[in-house]
Amino acid sequence: MTASPPRSILPALSPEEQRHSRAVAALIHEQLAAAGGWLSFERFMELALYAPGLGYYSAGSAKLGAAGDFVTAPEVSDLFSRCVARQCAAVLAVTGGDILEVGAGTGRMAAALLGELAAQGTLPGRYAILEVSADLAARQRTRLAQLPLGLRERVVWLERLPARPVRGVMLANEVADALPCRRFTWRAAGVTELGIVAAGEPAAQAPGFRECGRPADATLAQQCAALQEGLPAPLPEGYTSEVCQRVAPWIASLADCLERGLLLLCDYGLPRRHYYHPQRVSGTLRCHFRQRAHADPYINVGVQDITAWVDFTRVAEAAAAADLAVGGFATQAAFLLALGIEQLVAAAPAGTRHARLAGEARRLLMPEEMGEAFKAMALTRDLDLPLAGFTLQDLRHLL
Ligand SMILES: C[S@@+](CC[C@H](N)C(=O)[O-])C[C@H]1O[C@@H](n2cnc3c(N)ncnc32)[C@H](O)[C@@H]1O
Repeated sequence: MTASPPRSILPALSPEEQRHSRAVAALIHEQLAAAGGWLSFERFMELALYAPGLGYYSAGSAKLGAAGDFVTAPEVSDLFSRCVARQCAAVLAVTGGDILEVGAGTGRMAAALLGELAAQGTLPGRYAILEVSADLAARQRTRLAQLPLGLRERVVWLERLPARPVRGVMLANEVADALPCRRFTWRAAGVTELGIVAAGEPAAQAPGFRECGRPADATLAQQCAALQEGLPAPLPEGYTSEVCQRVAPWIASLADCLERGLLLLCDYGLPRRHYYHPQRVSGTLRCHFRQRAHADPYINVGVQDITAWVDFTRVAEAAAAADLAVGGFATQAAFLLALGIEQLVAAAPAGTRHARLAGEARRLLMPEEMGEAFKAMALTRDLDLPLAGFTLQDLRHLL
């Protein structure tokens, strides 16, 4: 069981959030009953985040930004998106074509990227957005409608990945960490898969689930054994962590759509040997509720985000299987520095704006903030081009 902070540090749910969370919990209880009393953590996470009309990403809570549950790099500062734009511009100059952003949040990155690309004279033919959340898609439409006509007319929303392959750039910032993952506990006698059973009467912040393990099926047991074999140190008895089996089909589906160019993934994560470090005994799962991070996915169901760090070795393996090359892998700090974040700050006139940008840059770059935990990975197809964002650091040897 993951360690929970005292619930008192989390803000209480509003009456509307309580109603919503009860409805999500009721749906999960129905599914539990239909499944014979046990659901895998992966299925639980899928329902809590994506149940149609009810899940965290499917329904209408604020989610991102200061009024929401968490803040992402594009929400911290447009400096992030302007640096990404520089990388996109270099690729688009060679490939031409479009940008496809997967999971565009509030649309802030799209707006800042298009602004910067316009300034550099390298606009994509179109800027397509694939978004699973109807609520966030509506927020994106409102924000991007405010762009000048020459930019906003390039933006389109897709219902599914495009049938015609993309030439240019595909982007996904903090999307892979939201893919539902399986949780396991390593034991020499046999791997346990973690899941949930019903426990007591549902109440406001405790929707009546209890974590419960059962012997892993052959797929999970084999995957855990394989990853254990590749690690520098064996996993300790009782070690709990995550495996995201959805990474490979997700990367394969994106790769299928990339005719030529760059797929840029930014997320918090690690190469496998660091991800499954013996000291990380309870894994990487984190929940986000009103700017508080904690480790209990079984409270506030449907009104809090649930994430797990990305095993970038798994992403690289999936990329290789999908015929993509790993063109670069770096910390967010190295990536942004290589793309000139310091020059962007220096170019701001001295005064309040400069001070604000300097503060935002620190948050994006400092190791104890977002600089180290977040990584950027470039996956490429048919792109013989040095990628500027990956010239300061190359962590590919760690994958
Ligand atoms: C953590 S937010 C990040 C938003 C934005 N990229 C940013 O950095 O501010 C995750 C985003 O991915 C979307 N999302 C989650 N799973 C997705 C999927 N399988 N396909 C497309 N979008 C997805 C969410 O609705 C949300 O817009």
